[in-house]
Amino acid sequence: MKFFLDTANLDEIRDVASTGVLDGITTNPTLISKEGNVFEDQLLKICALVDGPISAETVSPDASGMVEEGRHLAKLHKNIVVKCPMTREGLKATKILSGQGIRVNVTLVFSAPQAIMAAKAGAYFVSPFVGRLDDIGHTGMELIRDIVTIFNNYDFKTEVLVASIRNPLHVVQAGLMGADICTMPAKVFDQLLKHPLTDKGVDQFMKDWAKVPVIK
Ligand code: G3P
Repeated sequence: MKFFLDTANLDEIRDVASTGVLDGITTNPTLISKEGNVFEDQLLKICALVDGPISAETVSPDASGMVEEGRHLAKLHKNIVVKCPMTREGLKATKILSGQGIRVNVTLVFSAPQAIMAAKAGAYFVSPFVGRLDDIGHTGMELIRDIVTIFNNYDFKTEVLVASIRNPLHVVQAGLMGADICTMPAKVFDQLLKHPLTDKGVDQFMKDWAKVPVIK
């Protein structure tokens, strides 16, 4: 199971990367806009911090624009994966870019049929948004179960990248279902490694250790 950080913030990336278990980064136009930097420059700074797939999103409304943007982004750095939205135009662009050996992350996926279409177009990653489905009263993780089952049935090579993760339970369920990647905000990454009994145990061990005579 791979862990990606869903951010364009360099401090957050540096901090999480220092744990040694960060495999990649996902960005989107909203996350990039928060950083106030030139798009390409911010992407290159991210690429310098993490040696893994870095998703960068296209914003053109039509396939030809997405293809042009995708080629430009892919040329910036070998680790950049081009994000295309799961629209009719995004699907066309995915097919063309994938055919040219450019890795595509099909984003804004909210249904199993959309995931199948993305896989058939040659997507490298497919990004179902679980939190946003939960927000409207659906169970986002049921979609992950369906997509993983369908992809396994047909041996699709497209990796399932669980996005819009809001809590550690999403990550645990993704693992139980066999999803390939979870992308999450830094807050969830931190929540994953914490447990109050671990802190309590460390505290007690330190207190007891202070009573042990040692040769200095
Ligand atoms: O980057 C895509 C996705 O993870 C966005 O999550 O929290 O804005 O629904 P969120």
